[in-house]
Amino acid sequence: MGNNAQISTSISKRYALLIVVVTTLVIAFLYAAGLFGGHGTTAQQFVNLQENNKPQFSFRRAHAKGVCLAGEFESSGLLSPYSTSEFFQKGAQPFVGRFSIAGGNPLAPDLAAPVRSLALSFASDSGQRWRTAMNTPPVMAVRTPEEFYQQIQVLTPDPATGKPDGEKIKAFFAAHPETAAFNAWKNSYTATTSFATEQYHSINAFYVLDAQGQRQAVRWAAVPQAHAQPMAADISDSDPDALQNELAQRLAENPVRFDLMVSLADESDDENNATIAWPAERKTINAGTVVIRSVQPQQGGACEGINFDPLVLPQGMQATDDPILNARGSAYAESYRRRARESFIEAQTAGAQQ
Ligand code: HEM
Repeated sequence: MGNNAQISTSISKRYALLIVVVTTLVIAFLYAAGLFGGHGTTAQQFVNLQENNKPQFSFRRAHAKGVCLAGEFESSGLLSPYSTSEFFQKGAQPFVGRFSIAGGNPLAPDLAAPVRSLALSFASDSGQRWRTAMNTPPVMAVRTPEEFYQQIQVLTPDPATGKPDGEKIKAFFAAHPETAAFNAWKNSYTATTSFATEQYHSINAFYVLDAQGQRQAVRWAAVPQAHAQPMAADISDSDPDALQNELAQRLAENPVRFDLMVSLADESDDENNATIAWPAERKTINAGTVVIRSVQPQQGGACEGINFDPLVLPQGMQATDDPILNARGSAYAESYRRRARESFIEAQTAGAQQ
């Protein structure tokens, strides 16, 4: 090979190498930006879908209808060998909470909602924070944020008919056998007449950490102490604010109590898969009692400005790698950003009109 031919081969090789490097960098960037299948659902897409073209200004984009709560957690201290968190040492910790129903409509009729929720926010004097948002189902239907996005898509009413497409729903659940535990819960669940008599689940697993840094995967549930009454089958004439009104009446007489039951995973449980319930025989610790003493309207209430992001955890607790849990943080932040901006604009407009 002559000198010229050698030089041109070496230049071509360098160009080829450059192209490979640049292409690899571009692919890595796109992957990190979440633009390929499997990592493709952004917080904005989630919240746009939850708004469903009807953003409810200054309200949460999910679980829009709710009430603020105040009370304290009376920790039994029984979880303290597993977690150094100060919230699990024996003693009382105040919280701000919120009962809500799932969905983006702040005027939705209480009893028609398929899911009810309890959220709690703790803030200690030493600067520790813990937020938890729990729902009535014990498990997720699907394992990943992308599949959850598709699930919301198929359950969203078609604008032409005002109803979700039954065939699409059937096809979605048939294509996802991991929905079995969720469906079993759904088929056996009977809603009750009160927020105070539902059981609320963390669904996602978390780690608790002991003084040696040893970690243990856990899930928790707020289990009601009050006796439940099943809801009537026909709710068509009922008060749209039935759950809120019942709660206010109940709290006028007595506080509402839940036991915070914490289940410990064993080696065979996958803490990163929220579609599978852990067997009932897993060791379960009563970490203490959630005592709700008062209720307040959410607008202007102490819970309005709180983002109940489940990734806000104190020392002695950690997030697992559950992909749904990790997607929640950014989606809640996006919803919070939108509603906080709108509340600010509303307040300014009201101020300017005075
Ligand atoms: C990828 C999955 C999920 C997404 C994208 C999502 C999205 C959201 C969003 C955007 C909000 C409104 C946040 C705000 O403006 O403050 C919200 C609230 C809430 N979510 Fe989720 N969520 C997911 C999974 C879950 C799960 C697994 C649970 C239950 C364990 C849950 C329970 C709640 C509750 C209770 C609230 C209301 C909290 C409050 O009272 O402010 N979510 N969710």
